[in-house]
Amino acid sequence: MTTAVRVRVPAKVNLALRVGGADASGYHELGTVFQAVSLGDEILAERAPAGVFTLAFHGEGAGFLPVDDTNLAMRAAKLLAARCEVTGAGVRLTIRKRIPVAGGMAGGSADAAGTLVACNALWQVGATRSDLHPLAAELGADVPFLLLGGTAIGTGRGDQLTSMMTSGTYHWTFALAHSGLSTPAVFREFDRTSTPDTTEIPVELVEALRLGDTGAVGASLVNDLQGPAVSLLPQLAHTLRLGLEAGALGAIVSGSGPTCAFLAGSSAHAAELATALARFSGVRAARRAFGPVAGAQVLP
Ligand code: C5P
Repeated sequence: MTTAVRVRVPAKVNLALRVGGADASGYHELGTVFQAVSLGDEILAERAPAGVFTLAFHGEGAGFLPVDDTNLAMRAAKLLAARCEVTGAGVRLTIRKRIPVAGGMAGGSADAAGTLVACNALWQVGATRSDLHPLAAELGADVPFLLLGGTAIGTGRGDQLTSMMTSGTYHWTFALAHSGLSTPAVFREFDRTSTPDTTEIPVELVEALRLGDTGAVGASLVNDLQGPAVSLLPQLAHTLRLGLEAGALGAIVSGSGPTCAFLAGSSAHAAELATALARFSGVRAARRAFGPVAGAQVLP
């Protein structure tokens, strides 16, 4: 019997995020390009007696996170147990966080995706990735991508995924802000200030990714939530400008923010950008990562 499973799960950055109108439930139609990056969380799932579900966090932002049924990771474990009718299901989850909390990098969604994969292995459920996809989509729009990983186009709510052919490795520097931004609040600001346009992904971006042309990828990054995020947290405009002045090939708010993502030409260049950005008082910390990487994976 398996007594413990360890899973690594990536964060995401949106290389394109086009936002359309909202449906009756308030969700917006999206056209997005996700990339999974090496800044990730690690989930330890240990066997517990039937009906015992516990959750603890360590690391980045641990003190700010709920550990009850409002947490998406806890909901993921219980959803898998219920839907797959796992007899005697129980789990102790311990999550080591590196993904910024409320940062626009899908940290909560990543923990949910990682928990699905961890509990599937721990309880020997035998669900495939495609079996897990609808459970992931039920938990949140970004959760399916964190299962899939790589680089993918997301449509619908962002949960209908098509993997993309890309070339090369992309080096990123992420500037973390002192405070978080609520995703629903950023979408509300979008509704207040923007007229939804096309959700089409720029063809230049798709072509640049296919060729591995980092400069062209940097030039074609686009995020319709950037304006709303900057409007709620104006200092982000300064962070983005600083990164570009320090030579970033592209600068963008990550998802709904407030983390800012900077594309570098190499790992050394990403380190230089991190040093330059960390000097700005508006930046809490700078982190480096590369992508694309795999989705949630059981560690040996
Ligand atoms: O699906 P998830 O819980 O991650 O979404 C968080 C919030 O982001 C939603 O409650 C909604 O306000 C907003 N959202 C949206 N349209 C999407 C995805 C998310 O409006 N396609």
